[in-house]
Amino acid sequence: MLQILKETVSWLRPQIPENTNIGIILGTGLGDLASNITGKKEIPYEKIPNFPVSTVEGHHGNLIVGQLGGKPVLAMQGRFHFYEGYDMKQVTYPIRVMQLLGIEYLFVSNAAGGMNSAFEVGDIMLIDDHINLFPEHPLRGKNEDALGTRFPDMSDVYDKKLRETAVAIAEKNRIKLQHGVYVGTQGPTFETPAEYHYFNIIGGDAVGMSTVPEVIVARHGGMKVLGVSVITDMAVYGKVVEVSHEEVQKAAREAQPKLAFLIEESVKQLRIKAT
Ligand code: HPA
Repeated sequence: MLQILKETVSWLRPQIPENTNIGIILGTGLGDLASNITGKKEIPYEKIPNFPVSTVEGHHGNLIVGQLGGKPVLAMQGRFHFYEGYDMKQVTYPIRVMQLLGIEYLFVSNAAGGMNSAFEVGDIMLIDDHINLFPEHPLRGKNEDALGTRFPDMSDVYDKKLRETAVAIAEKNRIKLQHGVYVGTQGPTFETPAEYHYFNIIGGDAVGMSTVPEVIVARHGGMKVLGVSVITDMAVYGKVVEVSHEEVQKAAREAQPKLAFLIEESVKQLRIKAT
């Protein structure tokens, strides 16, 4: 695994400024943020040695190298979902690459179904914590001690300081920000009413099909993480209605400007590495 990673990293290294320490996964709800990245260079995933290749037609993934809010960033346009058939090592491979390229902060977004009755479609939820319900763990197997410890601590997965910064930015700019626990499940089915109810009872406020694997690997690798969900559909006990991929996409699109603003402002407040 390390040898394979090193090949990827040595191919990418000359194309990425040395002081880049901010990584972004442009998940659902953050696609537009790509257009705020200046001086950008796009590297298609197909060109990157050993990178997982997208099997879904019309799903072109790119690594974007550039500047956001004046800071050097490395952004993933397009991620790998477990439900697409990738195994957990493939889903999280780009995070390992980021780690070896010196990324210290990871910003991640997703679309999620809201189970907390105080939420509304279109809300942004700051992820305070998560519950991992994926059937395979991304760290299962021999531990690479060079990448992280065997039994990583998970007591502060979504960095407290980064969350406080995001809250302060939201308050100052009158952006409504919800808080909650994100439940990560494999999909691709949306939940049954009983499943939404169950996830809520065990402590979940929102549920989605991504993020948790990448975040676990990012924490294993010592990164500080900020995660946000766009609430694209509501699934409160007794009031669950039909949900479609199209509705999810529409709600996420509408929430984009405020989410992009929140992330860009948070990025502005970070310190970059001295070179
Ligand atoms: N469930 C799971 N994943 C989702 C949902 C949902 O209701 N909405 C958006 N992604």
